[in-house]
Amino acid sequence: MQRASGNRLWSEQYADAHLGVFDMTFPSALPASRLRPPQDAPPMRWGILGTGWIAAKFTESVKAHTRQVIAAVGSRSEEAAKRFASEWGIQNAYGSYQELVQASDIDIIYVATPHGQHHEHVLLAINAGKHVLVEKPMALNHAQAAEMVAAARKKGVFFAEALWTYFLPKFDVVQQILDAGVIGDIKSVYTEYGEYLPRDHRIFDPTLAGGPLLDLGTYPVSLLTKLLGVPSKVVGVATDDPAGVNGQLAVAMMNYHGAQGTMATTLYGFTPTGAAVIGTKGSIRFANEFHLPGSFEVWSLDGSVRLKYDEPRGAHFEGLFHEAAGIAYVISEGSFESPCRPLDASLDTMKTLDAIRSAVAINFSRAGLRE
Ligand SMILES: NC(=O)c1ccc[n+]([C@@H]2O[C@H](COP(=O)([O-])OP(=O)(O)OC[C@H]3O[C@@H](n4cnc5c(N)ncnc54)[C@H](OP(=O)(O)O)[C@@H]3O)[C@@H](O)[C@H]2O)c1
Repeated sequence: MQRASGNRLWSEQYADAHLGVFDMTFPSALPASRLRPPQDAPPMRWGILGTGWIAAKFTESVKAHTRQVIAAVGSRSEEAAKRFASEWGIQNAYGSYQELVQASDIDIIYVATPHGQHHEHVLLAINAGKHVLVEKPMALNHAQAAEMVAAARKKGVFFAEALWTYFLPKFDVVQQILDAGVIGDIKSVYTEYGEYLPRDHRIFDPTLAGGPLLDLGTYPVSLLTKLLGVPSKVVGVATDDPAGVNGQLAVAMMNYHGAQGTMATTLYGFTPTGAAVIGTKGSIRFANEFHLPGSFEVWSLDGSVRLKYDEPRGAHFEGLFHEAAGIAYVISEGSFESPCRPLDASLDTMKTLDAIRSAVAINFSRAGLRE
């Protein structure tokens, strides 16, 4: 576990102190994050698979904030591998993914290719006996993801989806608030995420499973699934983009207990990327983009702010390193899964994504992809 040991859980202390209390009693302070210092995580040797945008962001953040070693990079082209290696001071550059995953001095492969390629590249790394961190979403659909998880478990290697939001200290604090029942039972969750992206971005490419859902949408959908479970019912609307991908969509969903979630995502402009979690005793409101480092508040039912988590808004540089450090801790302790992003959580998110696609008729096989 990526947690300090020895102390009683904050949630247990809170529950004891408020046992049998049914009024709006809130703790006097937020719990501290239980994440251990990123700089102390035992160094692992990482191989970067793919040399695109997020591969560079991950490398920059991890090199600046941890003792993890980015030891090699692999690309479909030797030229791109060498360019990336020279920019980031990486010792080994391979002109194929196959060579990278077979390098004997690498512990873990970070798969940073487009999501339609994750299934192939993750299996390549697992079959070579490497631990794997794959960019989000885990795969194109639940069937692919289930095959990847089964392969990792059979081979006995670490595997996780790089949904970095859930590796942030902020989310460990949120988790403790939820575990302690501070806001009661969750009744509804509101969230969305849109960005403006230029027309030549891969998100407009139907052959790369473009559209916002499996890209930006993975953040709100993973949050909804984490808090409400896989929905029993989804309804929605979707608008096609002339490029042949979905341009935007909005959905409402419900679980078996009647708790509801709403979610929207768009390729046409930046949205607040907010989230609000409504419980029977209070609510949590994220002050800025909920998926980034930043602040949130805990509100009581009467609308007063009871607790505040204050943290400057951060972007990839300020956040991606947490997942690398957290994973290095758990691998060094012999674990094959991260408590921050368990494999079943990723599989459930894939089920919700499949259900949304079914509700709004988004089918990647039309672009020639194998569903
Ligand atoms: N965590 C986050 O905040 C975050 C942010 C953005 C994206 N992502 C995720 O990261 C993944 C990659 O996104 P990105 O924005 O980095 O993409 P990108 O800039 O297009 O880079 C993808 C890389 O994958 C490799 N690749 C392999 N097969 C490919 C193919 N058929 N077409 C195009 N590229 C191919 C290429 O590297 P080589 O040419 O070197 O082989 C390419 O540079 C996606 O799953 C996305 O959802 C995560």
